[in-house]
Amino acid sequence: MTKVISILGSPRKKGTSARIAGAFTDTAQSLGAEVEKFYLNGMTYRGCQACETCHSKTDKCVLNDDVTAVLEAIKEADIAVFSSPVYYGDTSGQFKLFYDRMYSLLDINVTRDPAIISRVPKGKTAIFVVTQGDINEIFRDVPERYKMFLEVYGFDVKVVRRTDLIEGVPDQDVSDSQAEIAALAKELIA
Ligand SMILES: Cc1cc2nc3c(=O)[nH]c(=O)nc-3n(C[C@H](O)[C@H](O)[C@H](O)COP(=O)(O)O)c2cc1C
Repeated sequence: MTKVISILGSPRKKGTSARIAGAFTDTAQSLGAEVEKFYLNGMTYRGCQACETCHSKTDKCVLNDDVTAVLEAIKEADIAVFSSPVYYGDTSGQFKLFYDRMYSLLDINVTRDPAIISRVPKGKTAIFVVTQGDINEIFRDVPERYKMFLEVYGFDVKVVRRTDLIEGVPDQDVSDSQAEIAALAKELIA
């Protein structure tokens, strides 16, 4: 059975990014996939402490908090959906704090070749959903940068980007993006 996880970076449970990510997980579930959701805003966790223990003494993050289970789930899932609104030209603070903790999913040793080895097993897909108020031309770099890092972990990365939204209107229509991501779910899971 396909295992899908959804890591939700917006505080709005029914906001634009959550509803687009939800169209993927709903479709995946209807196709028989197992789905687990992680709503970051409801979790208690710290950002990376830069202790480097995960690169010197252990193979995982030594912090033990709500993100611990998310990091383990990423290693086990076939498809991981990452979603966030754009806040100040980047992902939300909730998402970025979590994303830095993914540092522990890399084995980094600068004296070795290759210097970076992913701890995420190969053959997985990541979907990066990003929504913003600004026009399409602005902040194109956000998905590009996050895609680049997800590729370092070995994910095959698909981006679903939604722009031109009106801030403060969480229930606005994103049905075309939902249709786009539902089609992706059918392609990946069917
Ligand atoms: C604190 C904050 C900062 C934001 N900064 C930006 C920004 O820099 N650029 C932008 O295009 N939209 C910005 N927005 C608008 C959100 O990206 C937009 O409303 C998005 O659709 C919200 O996603 P959500 O509905 O999933 O929460 C910001 C919104 C908030 C609350």
